[in-house]
Amino acid sequence: MCGIVAYIGNKPATPLLVEGLKRLEYRGYDSAGLAVVTPNGIQVHKSLGRVSVLEDKIAQQTDIQDAAVGIAHTRWATHGEPSESNAHPHVGKTRQGHSLALVHNGIIENYASLRTYLEGKGHTFTSQTDTEVLTKLIAELYETDLESAVQQALREVTGAYAIAVICDIEPNTMVCARKGSPLIVGIAERSYIVASDASAIVSHTTQAITLDDYQVVRLCAGKRDKFTEEQGPWAIEFRTTTVDNVPVTREVTELEMNLQQIELGDYPHFMLKEIMEQPESIRNCLRGRIDHREGRVVLGGLNEITRDLVRAKRFLFTGQGTAYHAGLIGEYLMEDLAKVPARCEYASEFRYRNPIIEDGTVMVAVSQSGETADTLAALTEASERGAMTLGAVNSVGSTISRITDAGVYLHVGPEIGVASTKAFVGQVAVLTLLSLFIGKRKYLSNDAVAEYLKQFEQVPDYIQRVLEQSDHIKTCVERVVDRDNWLFLGRGYNYPVAIEGALKLKEISYIHAEGMPAAEMKHGPIALIDEGMPVVFLATQGTQYQKVMSNIQEVRSRGGRIIAVATEGDEQIKQYADAVFTIPPMPDALQPLVSVVPLQLLAYHAAVLRGHDVDKPRNLAKSVTVE
Ligand code: M6R
Repeated sequence: MCGIVAYIGNKPATPLLVEGLKRLEYRGYDSAGLAVVTPNGIQVHKSLGRVSVLEDKIAQQTDIQDAAVGIAHTRWATHGEPSESNAHPHVGKTRQGHSLALVHNGIIENYASLRTYLEGKGHTFTSQTDTEVLTKLIAELYETDLESAVQQALREVTGAYAIAVICDIEPNTMVCARKGSPLIVGIAERSYIVASDASAIVSHTTQAITLDDYQVVRLCAGKRDKFTEEQGPWAIEFRTTTVDNVPVTREVTELEMNLQQIELGDYPHFMLKEIMEQPESIRNCLRGRIDHREGRVVLGGLNEITRDLVRAKRFLFTGQGTAYHAGLIGEYLMEDLAKVPARCEYASEFRYRNPIIEDGTVMVAVSQSGETADTLAALTEASERGAMTLGAVNSVGSTISRITDAGVYLHVGPEIGVASTKAFVGQVAVLTLLSLFIGKRKYLSNDAVAEYLKQFEQVPDYIQRVLEQSDHIKTCVERVVDRDNWLFLGRGYNYPVAIEGALKLKEISYIHAEGMPAAEMKHGPIALIDEGMPVVFLATQGTQYQKVMSNIQEVRSRGGRIIAVATEGDEQIKQYADAVFTIPPMPDALQPLVSVVPLQLLAYHAAVLRGHDVDKPRNLAKSVTVE
């Protein structure tokens, strides 16, 4: 999805902006651009494709290298095709003849009527974007002060935005604002670095302020006319207000991210790094949350609402994509371990279907980024209808974590790979903890909880045992990687794992894959099975093992090629499967935490063998902040 990085301070802005754009590449984009304030006015450069294309294009532009103020953007097309003219920044001319430039994440919904209005005022448009409309609206409203023009314009728009705006007549000022799309202002020595994502900030500073919806920040940096030795010659200051110009106070907080977490190290791809990090990330997720002496789960974020949670009559999990799959596992866990009715629903469906929320409903929003537009909207809808809301979120300080009544962070560290891996396992781990937390206070015996917790703590080691099979998985994938249609089948807790495995394969290898409950295959999809079609079975030991074995026979007898995820020591499965990946024996409820890992490796190796860049899959964005 689109990315913003902006800089104002005492260093050359251009290289800093390019570095920031590179850090945002993982989010997915189709074009990039930047604008800087120079003595000759605002200079704008854009290019289609990778940031490196933009970098090459501006390398010889000597006039922009020393600029101290600039804004930059990676665009993921929504309104208008990917093209240089649609790429940001967009520019506008004020009635006084000043130029301004703007970058924007989000969607301005009423852009069509605003465009007609602005055309009537004499503005001409060079792009098909909603962003150019917002830029020209600010220009139209400009009198003497950029901050005021931005506030006025934002009072006129509906939709979502995170913006950064500069103007040639106010060369030491930048104005930023947000509603519905994230924006962070990093405070470094003598400068500010603004970004839609902390990964573009942490190489400069970990001190930051985050903006809430409808808030505007004016950043100023420049040489003082008069200064003392103590003050120094360079001044920076910021002021935060609402779009209605009411002053607000924002606290400076420490970003929970470090540089090592967002750098590749010795790995060829972030996705592989994050798969391999999972033992450590799950240890971090569990740290301090399992109290063996008392045989209980400790979730500090839920302290104040524990009684309400125990009394809850129904849980409603929601999310999109991988997070939805984790929520589906949450549904199984909550009913199985805590005996509370539970459902999982796509946030995008929930928000528009006029849902009935009964008394005692708790909605749990599952999200890595904490910024997914549909998930946010579903939460708001549920909350307005009386549900208590919880977040199971990775990104600390994200919107979901702030608008929910309470929550449990995943604490698996930043996830850069577009294909979600460690966040999925973190989400499932948190939902398992939540179910045990409630189950212990309801029906689960102390012994049962103690046994689950004992096994749970082994999960990082169990994952490690799967990771050691990476080369074996790659060898098996090599034999079938040319096949264009795959099925993923599982039952019970492993059904959501099957659909997650299929999603992983399709999003990075572009192989068509479907996941479904193994029993559903007989009701139609079995017609697809032909000689050599890869069918991946989750066939681990547990309550449904024999049933899955029958499904395996059905596929095998039709020529399908069986790839099985089975339990260590299972000799029987070897007779029926062409390839077997194993996980250690463990209770059904904990299996998804480990059984998904061979499927992540399978997808990774398939994509690399097919020659794809797994960290930049086509058309995909890391965080989907628009509808
Ligand atoms: O940030 P979120 O967890 O809310 O994102 C939800 C989905 O967009 C995300 O899981 C997506 O499906 C990933 N590409 C899956 O790998």
